[in-house]
Amino acid sequence: MPTLAFDVYGTLIDPSDVTRQLRTTLGERAEGFYQSWRDKQLEYSFRRGLMGAYVDFAQCTREALAFVCAQAQAPFDAAAQQGLLEAWNHLPAFADSAPGLVALQQRGIRLYAFSNGSQAAVGALLEQAGLAEFFDEIVSVEAVHNFKPAPLVYQHLLSRTGSAAATTWLVSSNPFDVLGASHAGLRSAWVRRSEQAQFDPWGIEPDLQVASLLQLAERLPG
Ligand code: LAC
Repeated sequence: MPTLAFDVYGTLIDPSDVTRQLRTTLGERAEGFYQSWRDKQLEYSFRRGLMGAYVDFAQCTREALAFVCAQAQAPFDAAAQQGLLEAWNHLPAFADSAPGLVALQQRGIRLYAFSNGSQAAVGALLEQAGLAEFFDEIVSVEAVHNFKPAPLVYQHLLSRTGSAAATTWLVSSNPFDVLGASHAGLRSAWVRRSEQAQFDPWGIEPDLQVASLLQLAERLPG
């Protein structure tokens, strides 16, 4: 029986929902601003991982916002930036998340959430989005003070699930996460949430590619 570990931001939960809040001030610039913010957030996590200078993922999000505001000369003062950061605590689940998790649970599969976010932040986020109940455990990189895709964090996941790499699947919409899990010997499923999403051409393919978590429940072998 496989064990599944779900990435959180972008896979179970939709961080692009903050675009709604950005739109009131930025109008049609909101989408581009959001994408720059998200890219910078991840870049900061990668760089901090490489430097051995771990901070809470929320700090990466905050510093990325400050950078992108300065770069885009966006009119968000400290209070407005705080309001945008608060939105990350109230992000919604994707529509297929709960039904997909129900279907997987009905197959008797053990489900974990596995995120760059801190234990407390991800716990509260999944709770308010109505997804916390599906998981045996929330596994955060916080425990090992590094970020995806460092091999160490996938080893930490395996130590929490107690399952073998060969039967443990990382499920993520983030190609860097899918590649990181494959590199660490895990199975991987890429959730291609939009037609525009591209996979890195590194010659490593995910074991499974699906468009939604419902499709994952239908197509996951075992
Ligand atoms: C996470 C980020 C990578 O939840 O989406 O770990």
